[in-house]
Amino acid sequence: MASAKLSLATCTLGLLVFALACSARLQLSEDYYSTSCPNGTSIIREFVKKQVANDSGIAAGLLRLHFHDCFVMGCDASVLLDPTSSLLVVEKDAPPNANSLRAFEQVDEIKAALEEECPGIFSCADLLAVAARDAVEETGGPTWPVPLGRRDGYISSSEEAQKKLPPSDGNFVDLTRNFANVGLDPVDMVILSGAHTLGRGRCVKVWDRLYNYTGVPDLTDPSLDSAFAADLKVKCPKDQSGATHIMMDTTDGVFDNVYYQDVAGSKGLFTSDATLITNPVGLNLVTTATANQTAFFEKFGEAMVRMGQIDLKLGTQGEVRTQCRVTNPSRHPFRTFSS
Ligand code: HEM
Repeated sequence: MASAKLSLATCTLGLLVFALACSARLQLSEDYYSTSCPNGTSIIREFVKKQVANDSGIAAGLLRLHFHDCFVMGCDASVLLDPTSSLLVVEKDAPPNANSLRAFEQVDEIKAALEEECPGIFSCADLLAVAARDAVEETGGPTWPVPLGRRDGYISSSEEAQKKLPPSDGNFVDLTRNFANVGLDPVDMVILSGAHTLGRGRCVKVWDRLYNYTGVPDLTDPSLDSAFAADLKVKCPKDQSGATHIMMDTTDGVFDNVYYQDVAGSKGLFTSDATLITNPVGLNLVTTATANQTAFFEKFGEAMVRMGQIDLKLGTQGEVRTQCRVTNPSRHPFRTFSS
C-alpha cells in the first residue's frame, strides 16, 4: 500500500515536471534561436539597416506591419499572406491595409536570407517583431529586447482586419476600447501612437477633418491649429486624389518625440492623434513625452513588447512558413474564413 502511494506520488511529480517543462518551452524567450539560428537576428538587422538607408519610409512600413499583424488574430504573420485561387480576400486587401501597407518586398528579402542561413527555423511573425524593433532603432529611436518563438498562422481574414484595426476617426473612448480588445491599456494606446513619428498618411484620411467635419459641408475641425489646417488644405485639395501622401509629423523619417509636440500643439494629423489630449490620462502622457524623449522611448519599448505578445500562437498552434506570403503546402492548405 505504502509503495503504491509512493509510486503514485512519483508519477504525479513526474507529470508535474513534464508539464512545467512543456509550458516553459511554450513561452517566448529572447534566446529562442540561440542554437537553432544564432545569426538570425543579426541578418535581420543588416537587411533593415540597408533597406532603411535606401528608403527611410521602409522603417515606417515595417513598424506598421508588426502592429497590423498583432492586432488581427495575434502576432502570427497573417498580414503577410497573399490571396490564392482558393482564397478571395486576405487581411492585406482589407480597406485599412489595401494601398496603404508597405515593405512586403523587404520582408521577402529578409526571409529569403533567413531561409538560406537556417531553413524552416525562423518564423515570419518573429521576423516582423525583430524588423520593427530594428527599424525604430535605425531611425534614431529606442531599442528593446524582443522575446521570440512565435509561430506563423494558417488563416487570414479581411473581415477581422476591418473589425480589429483602430479607426483614424476614433475618439479616446473608441480607441481605448479597441486596444482593450487585444489586452492593451490606455497608456499603451497613447504611447504606441507615438509610432506616428514615422511615415505618412493619405489625404483621404484627413478630408473629413478639413472639409466635412461631423458631416457639415466645408466645416473644418475647430480643434486643428488654423495654420496647420490651412497648410493641410494646400497639400490635400478636396478636388484632387485622396492617395496623395502627407507626413505624419514634422520630422520626416526620424523616430523622436516631435509627434507629441505636434499633438500638444493641435497639429495631430488624424482625429485619433488629436484625441489623445482630450482625456486627462492622455494629456498627461503627451505632456511627459513632449518634455522627456527618454521617458517616451523607454515606455515605447515596453509597450512594443506587450503588443508583440497579443494572442500568440506557440508550438503546434502554428508553423514556420518557408515563404511569408503562403502557408507551407505540406502542413496546411492555405485558407481563410469569411465571418
Ligand atoms: C491608435 C490607433 C491608430 C490609428 C487610428 C492609426 C491609423 C493610421 C492611419 C490612418 C495611417 C495612415 C494610413 C494611410 O493613410 O494609408 C497610419 C500610419 C501609420 N501608423 Fe498608425 N494608427 C494607430 C496606431 C498605430 C500604432 C500602434 C503603430 C505602431 C506601433 C502605428 C504605426 C503607423 C506607422 C509607422 C504609419 C506610417 C506608415 C507608412 O508610412 O507606411 N500606428 N496609422
